[in-house]
Amino acid sequence: MTVKTIIAFGATSAICVALLRRYAAAGASLYLVARDESRLAACAADLAARGATVTGTSAYDFNDAHRHSAALDDAAAALGRIDLVVVAHGSLPEQADCERDDALVRACMEDNLTSAAVIMHAAARRLEAQGSGTLAVISSVAGDRGRKSNYTYGAAKAGLDAIAQGMQGRFAGSAVRVVNIKPGMVASPMTAHMEQGPLFAHPEDIAPRMQRAIERGSRVVYVPGFWRYIMWVIRLLPTAVLARLPI
Ligand SMILES: NC(=O)c1ccc[n+]([C@@H]2O[C@H](COP(=O)([O-])OP(=O)(O)OC[C@H]3O[C@@H](n4cnc5c(N)ncnc54)[C@H](OP(=O)(O)O)[C@@H]3O)[C@@H](O)[C@H]2O)c1
Repeated sequence: MTVKTIIAFGATSAICVALLRRYAAAGASLYLVARDESRLAACAADLAARGATVTGTSAYDFNDAHRHSAALDDAAAALGRIDLVVVAHGSLPEQADCERDDALVRACMEDNLTSAAVIMHAAARRLEAQGSGTLAVISSVAGDRGRKSNYTYGAAKAGLDAIAQGMQGRFAGSAVRVVNIKPGMVASPMTAHMEQGPLFAHPEDIAPRMQRAIERGSRVVYVPGFWRYIMWVIRLLPTAVLARLPI
């Protein structure tokens, strides 16, 4: 499906920006939603300079669950029809900090699962009413198996997997598509504190594959693609073996 109109939640995230720049170059119309107002304004200006029509923006913390429907209504009024809803926000706390601080566990669930779940449900209603459109959510390879290095974040992302799978069942046979995007390690502000080994990709490297998956309506896409095989092996490892690995 050709995508001409997009609402992006978490529009200022590095991975989302890389994707939106591709649509901007193709002249898409965008409605951008993010938390930080000044970064959002800069992002809107960047995308407009690259060819997009930015029809509107909205800045708020996504844990304000009552704001999402209004953002979708505004976007629909500005865009006419919504071809694509992108859900791209998230936060990555240190696992060791979560083990010490219950508030961080809760914040991780709210930033990565609760807020995204509410947005996905509200977006699904909107696309269902239109009769077509694509909902693309950025989850993570971290959701494929609980590992000692990041199981709190991984649990939240696994929740997004379950929602995406359920919605794919709900919309089977219709023209609404739900695309679950699973990045591996990507160089972005979220991972800036980590040592960037050879498995790290850049947002602009993974954006073309994300865009193809969205346009094909693929159910799941690993980006880069080799993560499908890495996670296949990790899922098969016996728990006792996984426990001995530093991952
Ligand atoms: N980088 C990776 O290795 C990697 C791997 C797998 C999956 N992912 C996922 O990819 C997506 C994009 O991440 P990224 O790598 O592009 O990181 P990023 O540039 O740090 O973007 C994360 C974005 O999420 C926003 N955010 C977090 N909590 C929010 C909240 N409560 N309300 C509104 N916005 C909120 C942040 O807003 P502020 O700027 O206001 O903080 C930021 O714009 C995330 O879902 C992430 O979990 C990333």
